[in-house]
Amino acid sequence: MSGEFTSIDDARERLGRVGYLADEPASLVSFLAARLGKPVLVEGPAGVGKTELAKAVSRATGRRMIRLQCYEGLDEAKALYEWNYRKQLLRIQTEAADTGWQEVKDDIFGEEFMLARPLLNAIIAEEPVVLLIDEIDKTDQEFEALLLEVLSDFQISIPELGVVEARTRPLVLLTSNNSRELTEALKRRCLYLWLDYPTIERELEIVHLHAPELDQAVARKLVEVIHMVRSLDLKKPPSIAESIDWARALLLLGAEDVDQAVLERTMSIIVKHRTDLDLVAERVGVKLGDGLFGRQAG
Ligand SMILES: Nc1ncnc2c1ncn2[C@@H]1O[C@H](COP(=O)(O)OP(=O)(O)O)[C@@H](O)[C@H]1O
Ligand SMILES: [Mg+2]
Repeated sequence: MSGEFTSIDDARERLGRVGYLADEPASLVSFLAARLGKPVLVEGPAGVGKTELAKAVSRATGRRMIRLQCYEGLDEAKALYEWNYRKQLLRIQTEAADTGWQEVKDDIFGEEFMLARPLLNAIIAEEPVVLLIDEIDKTDQEFEALLLEVLSDFQISIPELGVVEARTRPLVLLTSNNSRELTEALKRRCLYLWLDYPTIERELEIVHLHAPELDQAVARKLVEVIHMVRSLDLKKPPSIAESIDWARALLLLGAEDVDQAVLERTMSIIVKHRTDLDLVAERVGVKLGDGLFGRQAG
């Protein structure tokens, strides 16, 4: 079934069916976003399912997804549109010598000479789409200002052409890893969703979804170890993505338990800083070796 979500429960259920386990807050904003016609700003640490939520909403609603991947220095030309200079030049060269400038100008600043980038593509799409503006915190603040017109009025002003209004309303999700504070102007226009590391039970469900063949007892211990590792003061705590990778690796290795030896051999799948590796070996590895871990985790 596709089409818009009809309730919070409907959103949760259909996201689940396309492989995304959404909690109440995520189901709520997914439902409200289309209803209120508001963009959603999803913030949280890396690897907690922000990007995947947008993909899942696209799959569940049957809307095509258009993605704008943000990076430092991203500008109008790569996000909105740019003029196809080469084609314009060719056109000018083939113009008869006596053609007036006005005529040429009207011609070469038409749609045919424009290269539409993700934001404009989302605006001119015939069918309603999901627009994912991924990792907005990587851009500069000036870029946010550029987004405001799109996010609040669903339109883009092009000096040479006029205002292009959205044919259908895109469902917009912005994600941020919180590496910098976003402007109030942007936040005011959005619904807000904070995604955090899941509870043990929820993470177990997610791991099971992605690595169904892994033995349940091993999966549970794996998730418990992950949670313990997260509680240490690491440079980069393991995310859900790392839990999934670890589960798949243990499956391939045929591990029957997550003990000290297994942890030491496979630790680099979940922690990726030299100092973090040392800390995990010392604090978690030793605990697994002592057999203290199971007792403490209950
Ligand atoms: N609620 C969830 N249900 C199913 N899979 C999830 C969920 N949250 C995260 N994942 C999985 O975790 C991984 C990382 O998610 P991703 O969206 O890339 O993280 P982020 O964009 O927050 O950095 C993906 O493989 C995704 O499928
Ligand atoms: Mg992401």
